[in-house]
Amino acid sequence: IKKIGVLTSGGDAPGMNAAIRAVVRACAFYNVECVGIYRGYQGMIEGDFKEMGPRAVKNIINKGGTVLKSARSKEFMTTEGRQKAHANLKENGIDALVVIGGDGSFTGAEIFNSEYKFPVIGIPGTIDNDIFGTSHTLGYDTALNTVVEAIDKIRDTANSHNRLFFVEVMGRDAGHIALNAGIGAGAEEILIPEENLGLDRLIDSLRKSKESGKTSSIVVVAEGDKIGKNVFELKDYVEENMPEYDVRVSVLGHMQRGGTPSCFDRVLASRLGVKAVETLLEGKTNLMVGLLQDKVTLTPLEQAIKGQSRVDAELVKVSDIISI
Ligand code: F6P
Repeated sequence: IKKIGVLTSGGDAPGMNAAIRAVVRACAFYNVECVGIYRGYQGMIEGDFKEMGPRAVKNIINKGGTVLKSARSKEFMTTEGRQKAHANLKENGIDALVVIGGDGSFTGAEIFNSEYKFPVIGIPGTIDNDIFGTSHTLGYDTALNTVVEAIDKIRDTANSHNRLFFVEVMGRDAGHIALNAGIGAGAEEILIPEENLGLDRLIDSLRKSKESGKTSSIVVVAEGDKIGKNVFELKDYVEENMPEYDVRVSVLGHMQRGGTPSCFDRVLASRLGVKAVETLLEGKTNLMVGLLQDKVTLTPLEQAIKGQSRVDAELVKVSDIISI
């Protein structure tokens, strides 16, 4: 392998820049050329490439977002789109790819590999932490800290006004952000897709809280939660059933995807970026680099996509116990 292309794809996540930096510098260290591909697979189709040496990635380890930009390319889902992308890679002498993204990006990488036998390695980058084969995806730790900081602020005002807040957090179909940030921020209840409490249980729990002397409450709701009502409908439902509560809603939204990456995410990105390059140079392909029990590991891309990243049952129990 002589020239490695690196791209970021799907929703951006803090730590993606640190991973790009690590890939570029590991390439330089091992005397392989490195090319940055802009806007994910869309840039691959359009030939939006830039040669990157070690100095091209200076001062980005601390930056949120992705300097290579990101996209969710519809065109790459077509055979013609992938054909164009492959032709561009060939023309530019790129003979392997590092794809930083989530399961949609990995699915694209897998299909591309199966069609063209093109060496690909994935680095899990998404705030959702919904990838099998790694305890942490890039950006997840930073997003947790962002959410906890936001809820701490909401708690101040909730407390001053004796209010109940529903705080909606991201995570797509997974409850990792909600569960962990909810525990970290001392939430009263945490609603996650993996465990549907049901509306009665929620009302019951809020009633008990009131009776036990709590004057304000935070309920963290994962965006993919399956209780059957969105946060605004939940507010109406609770106000109808418990008129004594003054309820407000806060949807944290895309602020969860931005900001300076935490030290954890920077170190993780650096480790995974180096390992991705080393793995390609060892002649391996179709793997995702990840972190399991603090060791950098390799998982087949297919498993990473199809496997379930489950929320920890112990955490669910802890949350139930300490919200008494
Ligand atoms: O996958 C990351 C994520 O932020 C999810 O948590 C969320 O559901 C989705 O992306 C939002 O996507 P978009 O930025 O396209 O609105």
